[in-house]
Amino acid sequence: MTKKLLRAGAALALITIIATPLLLADSYDGAGQRLVYDKKCAMCHGKHGVAKETASGSASFNDPEWQTQTDLETIIEVVKKGKGKMKGFTGKLSEEEIVAVAKYLKTM
Ligand code: HEC
Repeated sequence: MTKKLLRAGAALALITIIATPLLLADSYDGAGQRLVYDKKCAMCHGKHGVAKETASGSASFNDPEWQTQTDLETIIEVVKKGKGKMKGFTGKLSEEEIVAVAKYLKTM
């Protein structure tokens, strides 16, 4: 009896360990945030946030000065409405994706 319970417990623990990364990937944290960035922003802003030609006029997101001067709300606004040559992402990305990608910018 005890052995059976132990085995069931071990199986449950294993399932939890396997399923956790899958659940996290779905919640736009960490890897999920980067996925949105890589797909929708990196072609102009660069994989590491250093602005390419197509994002000329934009700060580089890994610039410490830009980081201290720019809060999450401002980034969300810019992503939604666009700025200069950059078109807004309202309707192209969900609210959740916009917030996730803005948070990712703050980690650069
Ligand atoms: C087609 C190229 C292009 C794409 C794609 C693009 N951007 Fe931009 N982005 C620009 C340009 C150009 C600017 C500079 C606008 C200006 O100030 O004239 C800019 C500016 C910004 C700024 C303001 C930076 C500053 O100097 O304060 C933020 C924040 C930003 N983009 C975030 C994003 C995010 C997040 C994505 C993806 C969801 C994205 N951009 C996708 C071209 C792009």
